[in-house]
Amino acid sequence: MSELEGLKIPAHVAIILDGNGRWAKAHGVPRAMGHKAGCTTLEGILEDAARLGIQYLTVYAFSTENWKRSEEEVDALMQLFRYYAKKIVKKACDNNIRIKMIGERSRFDADLIDSINYLEEITRDNTGMTFVFAVNYGGRDEIVRGTKALLADYKAGKFELDDLDEKLFGSYLDTKGMPDPDLLIRPSGELRLSNFLLWQSAYTEFYFADVLWPDFNRDELVKAIEHYNRRDRRFGGR
Ligand code: IPE
Ligand code: IPE
Ligand code: MG
Repeated sequence: MSELEGLKIPAHVAIILDGNGRWAKAHGVPRAMGHKAGCTTLEGILEDAARLGIQYLTVYAFSTENWKRSEEEVDALMQLFRYYAKKIVKKACDNNIRIKMIGERSRFDADLIDSINYLEEITRDNTGMTFVFAVNYGGRDEIVRGTKALLADYKAGKFELDDLDEKLFGSYLDTKGMPDPDLLIRPSGELRLSNFLLWQSAYTEFYFADVLWPDFNRDELVKAIEHYNRRDRRFGGR
């Protein structure tokens, strides 16, 4: 009998990719190597998630606060994004995966913005899992950017004040058209949201794993889903 027999697979799983630095330290290698190991883990999890039948996988890879890190580390991360933005095209196409980026992209170098736009464009009609990549993403930044766009439309007379509700507001966020996450996983033992999906995680179930992200694997993902299955999901009613 399959380990997945009878398990309800959450439609949208979000993961905070945390612990690369500690993994590097534990292995006596530079932080950049920890990030590289984290990317390798992500490649595997991407395919595992698609095969498990997860419909949306959102990963937090770089926050609006992460620019505060050393120039050396930020540069290493940008180089990895560059490399993977190209490498992932084939994997996405082979696995029918649609890719979407959330976060504010104008701060990246022009060639990286082009790669991200291309990635979204080339995978747009894929019908399998949607892989959402959160880079230069912050929940507060997203809400402020969304509110600016919303106010501009209001000023232009596109809707009346009375039309404004949660659904309309949500349509101004980067996650427009996506379901809210059902399960949010944070590895590495930290118990905070760190500015991830603030609006969208109103009723998300949280799962914290003790392993560092580079050591995360399919078994850990299945364990998180098993825990999710034991939860009594409530949405404020009853
Ligand atoms: C997560 O790993 C990757 C990014 C935030 C880019 P960290 O670099 O935060 O690793 P720790 O938390 O220092 O171990
Ligand atoms: C959250 O991790 C951001 C990402 C993993 C991209 P951090 O390591 O940056 O968060 P804090 O500083 O521990 O809250
Ligand atoms: Mg961290």
